[in-house]
Amino acid sequence: MANIELCNVCKVYENNNCVVKDFNLNIKDKEFIIFVGPSGCGKSTTLRMIAGLEEISDGELWIDGKLCNYAEPGERGLSMVFQNYALYPNMNVFDNMAFSLKIRKVPKKEIKEKVEEVAKILEIDHLLKRRPKELSGGQRQRVAIGSAIVRNPKAFLMDEPLSNLDAKLRGQMRIELAKLHKELGTTIIYVTHDQTEAMTLGTRIVVMKKGEIQQVDTPTNLYHNPANLFVAGFIGSPAMNFFPAYIGQIAGKSLLHLDNNVNGTILTPVKRMERELKNRHLGKKVIVGIRPEDIYELEEAKEMGFDVSNNIVEARVEAREMLGAEVVLYFEHDNGGFCARVKADNQSQPGDIVKLYFDAENIHIFDKETEKNIFFKEGKL
Ligand SMILES: Nc1ncnc2c1ncn2[C@@H]1O[C@H](COP(=O)(O)OP(=O)(O)O)[C@@H](O)[C@H]1O
Ligand SMILES: [Mg+2]
Repeated sequence: MANIELCNVCKVYENNNCVVKDFNLNIKDKEFIIFVGPSGCGKSTTLRMIAGLEEISDGELWIDGKLCNYAEPGERGLSMVFQNYALYPNMNVFDNMAFSLKIRKVPKKEIKEKVEEVAKILEIDHLLKRRPKELSGGQRQRVAIGSAIVRNPKAFLMDEPLSNLDAKLRGQMRIELAKLHKELGTTIIYVTHDQTEAMTLGTRIVVMKKGEIQQVDTPTNLYHNPANLFVAGFIGSPAMNFFPAYIGQIAGKSLLHLDNNVNGTILTPVKRMERELKNRHLGKKVIVGIRPEDIYELEEAKEMGFDVSNNIVEARVEAREMLGAEVVLYFEHDNGGFCARVKADNQSQPGDIVKLYFDAENIHIFDKETEKNIFFKEGKL
């Protein structure tokens, strides 16, 4: 059981460097919550303040209804798993996992039962007699996680626990962690700079930038309803394409003029956006965002039954990446290019001029000045 609440939490280092600003978050019991953001944005600092390894400069930390700003790390009932998992090299797996329980003077029989039970869950029960150096990276990480689990914490705090593993193992451990969370039903707060990890593991994701929360939401909402330009560009791979544009009108209807050199392309917004743009944003400079999978090759779009009477963009293919299940086409473009995810049987080659259909139903429009999503809906599913 753990309900962890941060109210206006700030971290200021000695040089007056404020690295976490006004952090507000209510983490409910059993959540798998992810802090994600670029390196240096304050994720580890926030986690360490929750753990009690870093002093909280301002604001309040509540754990299960108790103010914990000044509680010792050991009193908080949380278990931390680090990127550089520290195992005792001279102890075997069993003793590594048992260590914290021995210190607490838990009876031997109980320790044995607990360690064996957890080892079974993590599928390392056949390795209990081995020393860390006789284990693979993934196995070592499991032992580190096992050492955290045996302590029966109210919540796990994990700081980039998979970042020392190779890509394949990371993928496997990701699935294991998701399973583990289901089995244990314990709150997990997990720090990563990897948006794929965030999207696949999190029940809710906290996107951070320069010490400030940008958005707290479910993976689906972050993807389809990003609060601002930063979140839109950070979540998704390949990333969302962005086009500088302004909102004009022709024959009483608002239109999006992409002011790049794709031959002065004009996009027609869908009805639900059209009126709002006309009434409130005419003449405004904006950034239009569209994800690579929302751009179709024209013939493909026709086959799929899209109304292709407008929103056609012509562009030259710069590069082509065959990914097996799909092809990513990269297009030349004055503002840095854009890409589209098209069907695997698409035959377009570098140098070809291709007609593309932009699905206006799925475009995102950001105010150029504030970078906020003009159509952001709080709590939208
Ligand atoms: N002990 C410290 N003294 C001063 N600045 C620090 C200290 N620890 C971290 N920082 C700074 O705080 C910022 C956030 O760091 P951190 O929380 O580690 O980021 P992240 O985990 O998101 O990569 C960084 O700019 C870092 O340089
Ligand atoms: Mg960090």
